Amino acid sequence: MDMLLANKIENVKENIKNWKKEGLTIGLVPTMGALHKGHMSLIKKAKETADKVVVSIFVNPIQFGPNEDFEKYPRTLESDVNICQSLGVDIIFAPAPNEMYGENTLLSNNNLTYVCPPYNVVDMLCGKSRPGHFDGVATVVLKLFNIVQPDFAFFGQKDAQQLFILKKMVKDLNINIKIIGCPIVREKDGLAISSRNIYLSEAERKKALSISQALNKIEQLYKQGISSVDILFDTAVSILDKDIDLEYLEFINYDTFIRTQKAEKNTLVAIAARVGNTRLIDNIIL
Ligand code: PAF
Repeated sequence: MDMLLANKIENVKENIKNWKKEGLTIGLVPTMGALHKGHMSLIKKAKETADKVVVSIFVNPIQFGPNEDFEKYPRTLESDVNICQSLGVDIIFAPAPNEMYGENTLLSNNNLTYVCPPYNVVDMLCGKSRPGHFDGVATVVLKLFNIVQPDFAFFGQKDAQQLFILKKMVKDLNINIKIIGCPIVREKDGLAISSRNIYLSEAERKKALSISQALNKIEQLYKQGISSVDILFDTAVSILDKDIDLEYLEFINYDTFIRTQKAEKNTLVAIAARVGNTRLIDNIIL
């Protein structure tokens, strides 16, 4: 079958129904488009895992705050379609906001049923500076799950908090879908690949490199036996470029999502920082 580019929910559902009848498994890769090597690794994993692969491309308005980059967020449908085609994707689902939320829903904040992930997990790291962001993410992902009914869904480890929240949503709401987290993809020099990297000037990109360098240093010291979060934090901060505006550098137990004072196996070390006007995130798991 040739790849289908669908922007209507009904169109997607029709195909899904036929695949289900044939007993085929379905993998979903939810994205906001501007596809890069990170997304490509998710799509490749989906191709290896499921019989059919659906990629959704939707810049989800309800996960952006009023002063965030929703309008400016890169939209590159033509090149996204080419990438998906070259990777053997079966359906791209690229709806307009009205298709997902109805004509007037977004005009009023109080007119939509939301999924609210637990407050203690949301009120830290990225959730702290982006109130409502993870409600918007969980809500759109649940909608996509209901439309596509996948067996597997693929998300990048780069958004570690998002991945944790979505795994928890699936468990808490008894959703019969396996969430597969995929490793962070980096440029050769270590910069984590992100759709927002295109905002960086050459000079900013150089400064941004100190983010992954700081994380590498933490990993190196941890492997040498240093587990004090205070020491690891101070060393990492001293490596960050002086023009970088650090939003957070946190050490979190990745089983419980509770802050820890002692780095140990399965500690998530997560960082968010602004380089110029661009907000970047990165992390490692020890
Ligand atoms: O990670 C993203 O690109 C988005 O948050 C997602 C999961 C596609 C939901 O809009």
